[in-house]
Amino acid sequence: MNDTFSLREAIYTCRAMRRLDNRPVPREMLEQLIDAALQAPSGSNTQNARWIVVCDPAQKRKLADLNRTHAEPYIAPNLANPKDDKQRRMLSAVVWQMDHMHEAPALIVACFDYPEKVEGLGVYRSAGSVWPGVQNLLLTARSIGLGAAPTTLALRDQDAVRKVLALPETFAALCLIPVGYPLGKFGPVSRRPIGEVMRFDRWND
Ligand SMILES: Cc1cc2nc3c(=O)[nH]c(=O)nc-3n(C[C@H](O)[C@H](O)[C@H](O)COP(=O)(O)O)c2cc1C
Repeated sequence: MNDTFSLREAIYTCRAMRRLDNRPVPREMLEQLIDAALQAPSGSNTQNARWIVVCDPAQKRKLADLNRTHAEPYIAPNLANPKDDKQRRMLSAVVWQMDHMHEAPALIVACFDYPEKVEGLGVYRSAGSVWPGVQNLLLTARSIGLGAAPTTLALRDQDAVRKVLALPETFAALCLIPVGYPLGKFGPVSRRPIGEVMRFDRWND
């Protein structure tokens, strides 16, 4: 992390940054993100997360096409009838990302390498050993002035992703993170108040 950037500031302002400049990001910065991801915990410390940093334009286009295939039908009902202004703004950013994903400087795909072939829901069995690394990556991106956002829609068809990225059949692709210099503004995230989601000792009185 950047020494002048506090962990607290990163955590409290790490918005999903979907609007990204297409200016290239130096390889060293991309490696810095993966290095931070590698410091995260994993079950039994197996360290079986794998990271594909996609910068090749043809490869990015294929992943962006997969994202569109799944994002379009997913957002269509809300796009036609957003429930409030906040959702309307988020959907407009999701559409922007869908239209520009192939232009992001890097699409980072976080995977898990299982001991055997995985399919169906088995793909998500060890997802918990990948997501802490994803969060480290997002916070580090925030701290060095890069924008990033976790996405999953492009990965719904695991066979299609495996084909594009030449992944072994033991790999599950769990998160796709477009990374680049931000076009949008960072600022405080908006979340439910603590009193709504936390109890001491038990949920119901
Ligand atoms: C498990 C997970 C899956 C997500 N999948 C997508 C996705 O496919 N597309 C997308 O645009 N954002 C995706 N997001 C980003 C969330 O929509 C975003 O983190 C949330 O709206 C909060 O945004 P904010 O941090 O800017 O407030 C995903 C986030 C998580 C944690």
